[in-house]
Amino acid sequence: MNIGIIGAGQIGSALAVRLTSLGHTVYIANSRGTETLTDLAQKTGATAVTAQEAAQRGTDLIVVTIPLENIPKLPKDLLANVPAEVPVIDTSNYYPMLRDGHIPELETGDLTESGWVQQHLGRPLVKVFNNIFAAHLENNGKPAGTPGRIALPVASDDAAAKQKVMALVEELGFDALDGGTMRESWRQQPGGPIYCNDLPADQVEHHLASLGTERTEAQHAEFLANHNAAEKHMEAQGIKLK
Ligand SMILES: NC(=O)c1ccc[n+]([C@@H]2O[C@H](COP(=O)([O-])OP(=O)(O)OC[C@H]3O[C@@H](n4cnc5c(N)ncnc54)[C@H](OP(=O)(O)O)[C@@H]3O)[C@@H](O)[C@H]2O)c1
Repeated sequence: MNIGIIGAGQIGSALAVRLTSLGHTVYIANSRGTETLTDLAQKTGATAVTAQEAAQRGTDLIVVTIPLENIPKLPKDLLANVPAEVPVIDTSNYYPMLRDGHIPELETGDLTESGWVQQHLGRPLVKVFNNIFAAHLENNGKPAGTPGRIALPVASDDAAAKQKVMALVEELGFDALDGGTMRESWRQQPGGPIYCNDLPADQVEHHLASLGTERTEAQHAEFLANHNAAEKHMEAQGIKLK
């Protein structure tokens, strides 16, 4: 596949390493320019490009993997000429304290995190890879059938795009599970039981089923409180996201 990756940080780099090793052609972009991507390009065999070029040359798949707060800074017409059948993945998570500041629709729960990104980018997206650490994405994929293989939910309103991305998740070494619609993607967000816990399929399926599909106010408040505590813990450990 020809894959465009917008964002060359932890997740973008991990995906570039794995996807090129599987034989895919990867075009990768950051905000500072191609000259700053020489090392990554050498390490992975990916081609350094601009974000616009990644959107054009990723003719089979595009991945947007930049900090949530930077999504509104992407060019408004970035995906305007991308055919509808090309899946566009979003890996976003909302870190209000450490990085993104307060976004009203995410605080109220009116939108899910990738639902908010979807509004900005103006087309259906596929939410995946948000609930696994970059190093685990790069190193912990296993052949199908391996006991304890990590399962990753894939959520989207576009069923065909979801199926294509689920096949890629399997190719990368993870059990792909249907995470429902974008409105239901709150279940894989920070503060919930399947966020960065590297769970196998039976446990992810159990949590998806027991959480239900329609988020209650109590669930929203619980996830926010859990995530707030996690952010405070990260801050106390000196972890910086920007
Ligand atoms: N790190 C993880 O383990 C992990 C796991 C799951 C999900 N996520 C989520 O995935 C997203 C990306 O995380 P990350 O950890 O990979 O981020 P990161 O390491 O901070 O890297 C962000 C990348 O985005 C690029 N970027 C920022 N603004 C841009 C713009 N306007 N146009 C093009 N490129 C731009 C940056 O380029 P410059 O450096 O040139 O600005 C950088 O390459 C976040 O929402 C994060 O919460 C992260």
